Amino acid sequence: MRNIFFFPAFLLIVATVPIRSLLTAQQACQNACSLLERYQSNATLFASDGDAYTTQQEAHWKTAWKTPTCIYSPQSIDDVVHAIKILQSTKSKFAVRGGGHSPLSAWANIDNGVLISMRAISDKVYDPATETVRVGFGCTWMEVYQFVELHSRLVVGGRASTVGMGMIMGGGLSHLSNAYGFASDNVVSYELVLANATIVMASADSHQDLFYALKAGANNYGITTHVTLRTYPLSKAWGGTLVYTNEYRDQLMEALTIYQHSGQLDTKSALLAYLGINNNTAYVSLVYLDAVRRPQAFKPFYDIPSVVDTTRFYDKFGDILAEQVDRVVPRWTFGATTFFLDNETYVDAARISQIAAERLSTVNGGTMVLMPQPISKSMIKASRERGENPMIPQDREQMWFCINIGWNFKSDDEAVGSILMDTLDQIDGITKERNLYDPFIFLNDAYHSQNVFRSYGVETLNKMQAIGKRYDPEQMFQHQVPGGFKLYSANRRTP
Ligand SMILES: Cc1cc2nc3c(=O)[nH]c(=O)nc-3n(C[C@H](O)[C@H](O)[C@H](O)COP(=O)(O)OP(=O)(O)OC[C@H]3O[C@@H](n4cnc5c(N)ncnc54)[C@H](O)[C@@H]3O)c2cc1C
Ligand SMILES: *[C@@H]1O[C@H](CO)[C@@H](O)[C@H](O)[C@H]1NC(C)=O
Ligand SMILES: *[C@@H]1O[C@H](CO)[C@@H](O)[C@H](O)[C@H]1NC(C)=O
Ligand SMILES: *[C@@H]1O[C@H](CO)[C@@H](O)[C@H](O)[C@H]1NC(C)=O
Ligand SMILES: *[C@@H]1O[C@H](CO)[C@@H](O)[C@H](O)[C@H]1NC(C)=O
Repeated sequence: MRNIFFFPAFLLIVATVPIRSLLTAQQACQNACSLLERYQSNATLFASDGDAYTTQQEAHWKTAWKTPTCIYSPQSIDDVVHAIKILQSTKSKFAVRGGGHSPLSAWANIDNGVLISMRAISDKVYDPATETVRVGFGCTWMEVYQFVELHSRLVVGGRASTVGMGMIMGGGLSHLSNAYGFASDNVVSYELVLANATIVMASADSHQDLFYALKAGANNYGITTHVTLRTYPLSKAWGGTLVYTNEYRDQLMEALTIYQHSGQLDTKSALLAYLGINNNTAYVSLVYLDAVRRPQAFKPFYDIPSVVDTTRFYDKFGDILAEQVDRVVPRWTFGATTFFLDNETYVDAARISQIAAERLSTVNGGTMVLMPQPISKSMIKASRERGENPMIPQDREQMWFCINIGWNFKSDDEAVGSILMDTLDQIDGITKERNLYDPFIFLNDAYHSQNVFRSYGVETLNKMQAIGKRYDPEQMFQHQVPGGFKLYSANRRTP
């Protein structure tokens, strides 16, 4: 008799808990959206608003498209404070978007939740006395470059024009890193709204713990509204793209090692290589921060026959970026690993990827693009000179190897994820064997299942978690913001 009663009761609990919590979750975001609409109806968009909603719903990459219950666009920091109060009281889930450039699903977009889009907060003010620029978190890097150019200055920002300020929250690798460190090393202060709706300015002098964590802590501490950045003198530039056929893949990887041994010692030089595996094309964009034609630093790349060469002089640095390859296929993702400088290993990593890319033949539109990013000792030195950063690369030349995959249809999302991770695992296999593996994973190139914060080291992770508890004691940014690399999922070790 007992069992007869026991079983149905047990099943009832199992069946109703998820449904009830889903209903409450939906109710919570509907409540938040009605309150936001009541606060500022013209800044709150619903699906019924048609194009205005769709334009923001459909962010850059198709992999990032979601259907938020509403999209709220704060116009000022006070609006962000108000929004946080509403999200706090309703317990609604939400996502925060800067430039909307992340291809990762639900990182800066959300189903059944509120999307806070920072786009309207895009004011920019240059202060000649301190040579810093204060910018709203809704800017794209191109907008910031063009603005500071008016004052003959440069910032350490993104390498593609449409990337947004969210890049800074993951450390940020720039064409100027060789000279001035990572993007977040050049932040003077962050203006942030905390979970308890308080505004704080985090800098080297105030809330130092938070300032440190924000340099590579993504969306775990609050909503960033503005950053103040160091600027540097604008110089004329030389650069452009060399296009090669893929038959030179091994030589290009070898050229990268030579560049890293010697060329990269010239801190005015930077490059961005895209090796398009499936379509037989490799692009190497060269950037030199001075009016020098064909600088010696890039010699190994001139020695390989290119089919196209767009290199020329530029009056303004920002104009070089406009030429970057972008959004060739609708769905996109990437993953990253790190290993130390070694010619044979660089060549092998690309070979392994080329073989793995054959598996993409069953994926509609499947395209693999390798992005081998040589990290120099001078980048690491420049980073350390500018203060402590949770991202602590070893003081040794290394490769931040990023594999990008593009494809057409949602039905292939999982297949692509496993091809990506299998390929990275194979590369890690050889680098571990050769003692060249480094556990560090660059946040801005990481796949969503990669354990980024754990890769900073246990001590750093513990510190970042403690800072999280200090500034967000109820862990709003852990529980109510499901998207992004989280401080606690990082406790799980990568299998
Ligand atoms: C074509 C391409 C080029 C790229 N180039 C570079 C490069 O040169 N260097 C580099 O380092 N990375 C680069 N990236 C990676 C890029 O930095 C990340 O995708 C970055 O997150 C994009 O910033 P965003 O503002 O456009 O991001 P979004 O997609 O808007 O947001 C990304 C993440 O940041 C968080 N976030 C955004 N705004 C806020 C805020 N106001 N407060 C708190 N959290 C916030 C979001 O919640 C989300 O998790 C590139 C990516 C692509 C696709
Ligand atoms: C909403 O209306 C106010 C007052 O007319 C205006 O200042 C604000 O810019 C508008 N916001 C949007 C997002 O259109
Ligand atoms: C190869 O891919 C790149 C970027 O991934 C794209 O710009 C280019 O048009 C493609 N070329 C061919 C020949 O398909
Ligand atoms: C780099 O490795 C490739 C492939 O193993 C080899 O052909 C080449 O000679 C090596 N170059 C250098 C500079 O060691
Ligand atoms: C909000 O949180 C911060 C950081 O924990 C704290 O310093 C501040 O006193 C809090 N403010 C209020 C109004 O609770």
